[in-house]
Amino acid sequence: MNTDFFAHKLISWYNRHKRDLPWRNTRNPYFIWLSEIILQQTRVVQGLPYYQKFIENFPTVQDLAAADEKEVLRLWQGLGYYSRARNLHTTAKMVVSEFGGVFPDTYNELLKLKGIGSYTAAAIASFSHDEKVAVLDGNVYRVLSRVFGVETDIAGKDAKKVFGKLATELLPDQQVSTYNQAIMEFGAIQCTPGLPQCMFCTFSPECSANELGKQSMLPVKSKK
Ligand code: ADE
Repeated sequence: MNTDFFAHKLISWYNRHKRDLPWRNTRNPYFIWLSEIILQQTRVVQGLPYYQKFIENFPTVQDLAAADEKEVLRLWQGLGYYSRARNLHTTAKMVVSEFGGVFPDTYNELLKLKGIGSYTAAAIASFSHDEKVAVLDGNVYRVLSRVFGVETDIAGKDAKKVFGKLATELLPDQQVSTYNQAIMEFGAIQCTPGLPQCMFCTFSPECSANELGKQSMLPVKSKK
């Protein structure tokens, strides 16, 4: 499948089906970072009120850095994995002390922050200013493995290289933010784990897994 065709069709699907989520209406890297940390190990519906609470109580990274740790943990109550809240606070203080209070927004700078790995750095850099970097998360592995018939083990050592190469080739030159949101949204609500509803899928004519009936076998994930 032509790469432009894939991106174009995906964005067109996204514009018709996306959920209206508040962190999609901002280009502020600090807000996007908050949303991504909250959404690690947390479902969107559960994370929504926490995102609202955090941006209201701490509208800037300086506000978060200056807060009492107790207050941060109190607002986090109910989300679990409290180390996330402590790391969040530590990172905010680091942005103030080492980045002059300006939240970084480029992929390479973001990787220097505690708790930010390649997925989160790519999400913040692309959502905030369309930096051309691919997001690779569970949703993206599932979509790419099925549509393009990639049988590389996603738990294996080659996964990042193989899927990263394909994901990077597929990136459009423009609207990288929309495209990255779209591929994750497509994995979350259309190309779901288990038995997806391929009859109603925009990619059913092109999808390798649909053609071969391999939806339930992809992505390949060995148990470790
Ligand atoms: N899960 C992680 N990041 C997300 C995002 N930006 N939108 C929806 N779900 C997500």
